[in-house]
Amino acid sequence: MTIRRDRVEGTYMTLQTVLTRSEKQGVGLGHFNVSDLVLLKAVFAAAVELGVPVIVGASEGERDFLGTRQLAALVKTLREESGVSIFLNADHTHSLTKAVEAVKAGFDSVVADFSALPFAENVAKTKEAVEALKAINPSVIVEGEIGHIGTGSEIHETVGDEFRTLTTPEEARQFVASTGIDVLAPAVGNMHGMLKSMVQGKAKKRLNIERIDEIKKATGIFLTLHGGSGTDDTDFRNAIAAGINIIHINTELRVAWRQSLEESLKRQPNEVVPYKILPPVIESVKQAAASRLALFTAQGSKSEMQKAAS
Ligand code: G3H
Ligand code: ZN
Repeated sequence: MTIRRDRVEGTYMTLQTVLTRSEKQGVGLGHFNVSDLVLLKAVFAAAVELGVPVIVGASEGERDFLGTRQLAALVKTLREESGVSIFLNADHTHSLTKAVEAVKAGFDSVVADFSALPFAENVAKTKEAVEALKAINPSVIVEGEIGHIGTGSEIHETVGDEFRTLTTPEEARQFVASTGIDVLAPAVGNMHGMLKSMVQGKAKKRLNIERIDEIKKATGIFLTLHGGSGTDDTDFRNAIAAGINIIHINTELRVAWRQSLEESLKRQPNEVVPYKILPPVIESVKQAAASRLALFTAQGSKSEMQKAAS
């Protein structure tokens, strides 16, 4: 597999350029959350192996653990040394202070997540964030979120009914028009985390493709699908064809991280050297990320969708 070098004469493609290009190609951009160096190395290795761009994300909790500036420095060096388009997103940011901190540290994008607030307050806070963040870096990408998709990239015992309420095309249109966001994250049947049955591969999350299509037509902007772990493969491809540009995956990588760490420790019960225990963990997480990246970047989603609709 050849690695596409995205560095041209010392400059790098911006996230905006990569999003525009991916949309034209009918492919999705994979976004994977990281909270340690093992996950970061694995996601980067998956993107290198497939020769595709990737977004690394860190929520407020993940950034608190890793260090906001430290993560930015790591991603910057990976980008410079490889020439691969690896972008950094400040995921689910609930305060302007934390968003500003990430943009100042060099993050390419921010998810300004005020979706727990009533619609009017969500609009006001998101608009404020767009203006403040673009004043610091005019090319930073700001994503806003409406609707409920649950909390926590964890294994849940049960799911509530809230996530069955979908974002309507009209509220999406209003939200985009009044906030000036670059990217919208709607609720379209997706939810954060996985049920045990999903971890075992016995159940899948299903998406409302028609609603994605309607929201895309109503807003005309880039769309992100959060809560990607455990989603049906065909739904992913149809969602990209209907207008989803970025797909977030977290729990699937966390599950691979934990399971492979347990296996590696069991295989080497007396080992204490981290660089001997952790390589199989990186490999396992890399495979989990690579299989999703391969699916999101497979060409032909559009024609499949059109065939399905006719
Ligand atoms: O922002 C992170 C994601 O939306 C991940 O969701 O844990 O269900 O993959 P997930
Ligand atoms: Zn999310």
